[in-house]
Amino acid sequence: MNNFIFENSTKVYFGKGCVKEFLAGIMDGYGKNVMLAYGGGSIKRNGVYDEITDILADRGKNVVEFSGIMSNPTYKKVMEGAALARKNNIDMMLAVGGGSVMDCCKAVSLAAAYDGDVWSDYWEKRGIIDVEPIPLGVVVTVTGTGSECNGGAVITNEEKKIKTGGDYPKCNPKFALMDPEYTFSVPKMQTASGGFDILSHIMETYFSKTDEDNISDDISEALMRSIIRNLPAALKNPQDYTARSNLMWASTMAENRIIKLGKACDFQAHQIEHQLGAYTDCNHGCGLAVIHPPYYRYIYKDGLDKFVRFAVNVWGISADGKSKEEMAAEGVQALAGFIKEIGLPTTLRELGVKDKSILPEIAESCNIAPGSYGNMTKEAILEILNESF
Ligand code: NZQ
Ligand code: ZN
Repeated sequence: MNNFIFENSTKVYFGKGCVKEFLAGIMDGYGKNVMLAYGGGSIKRNGVYDEITDILADRGKNVVEFSGIMSNPTYKKVMEGAALARKNNIDMMLAVGGGSVMDCCKAVSLAAAYDGDVWSDYWEKRGIIDVEPIPLGVVVTVTGTGSECNGGAVITNEEKKIKTGGDYPKCNPKFALMDPEYTFSVPKMQTASGGFDILSHIMETYFSKTDEDNISDDISEALMRSIIRNLPAALKNPQDYTARSNLMWASTMAENRIIKLGKACDFQAHQIEHQLGAYTDCNHGCGLAVIHPPYYRYIYKDGLDKFVRFAVNVWGISADGKSKEEMAAEGVQALAGFIKEIGLPTTLRELGVKDKSILPEIAESCNIAPGSYGNMTKEAILEILNESF
């Protein structure tokens, strides 16, 4: 194992009924002015909004609502939230939603507490600022990003055409309430794309050094197998509690830093998807689904042993009479088949990209991930994007 330091400051309350059981008591530990943040309104349709506002009213909170947080939250929306938080002397923020709402709120909690230009001092130059963000709690309503247990806040700067975010531990939510039943109403496409995002986070970590025997890779394999079982089950029956709860916890496990311990981590597919998102506003998990197979076809020979291990331990492919290269290619093919099975797009065209002319600019704007098995360059990224088209 490589050296590491591990800390995760988020307290998790997991399971059926956890909001009803714990939110009131938790809120008593915070001040009166609460910013309740959410997205486009799904929480009003599925009853989550009523459940939470009743609890806040019962605890005598002054609630300021910050709504309409869009998927792929923009820096402009962050600034709107920060102004609202300052104006109302917000004591704590409660984010109710998925990655977009949680990320936007982390960014608001930081921006509201910082006097300088938070985009250039934090999103552009990671780790430079050192302020205490407004305390943030989250109620997760859709699984995928794992944002509930990390300090990541992925924000799109529309003017600069950059989508980015690093893990700033002070932005870890103070607490996360995770009731799998809250995800029963998530539509199929979002269930699939969020589920694939989980798988992507695990693969991005697994397909990187170290390759020696290590617990992180063993846990990753178990998590990947769990997603391969539970995602189709949740798509078949959206109210399957076992499937929904396993996906919810897998999502957290993928991004709470545990499986990253001792690993270089890659995240090249994420870097490409983020810039694809900055240019096209595509759905995060759908963008990843398109990019992963061509990216892995590009690099698998440089990480051959790990790709063989993936084929055997994750997909159960038999090695009988096959070369390492054949095995590795079969593993990537199994991944591509799974993407089709869960109904996600497999080409940039299906994702809504009309012609190839924007691809060079997207490739040029991507960060190169140093942890990739492949020797990645902007030219390589363009080749992968062309292949994905
Ligand atoms: O906005 P509403 O009306 O609530 O609808 C949302 C949205 O349309 C809907 N939804 C959420 N809960 C629901 C529900 N619909 C019905 N029932 C429910 N219970 O789901 C849609 C998608 O929500 P969103 O939050 O956008 O999805 P996701 O969780 O996939 O978040 C995506 C964002 O997170 C970033 C992505 O780049 C993207 O911006 N990421 C954040 C990461 C992090 N902080 O660690 C890591 C990821 O790799 C990712 O980059
Ligand atoms: Zn992701």
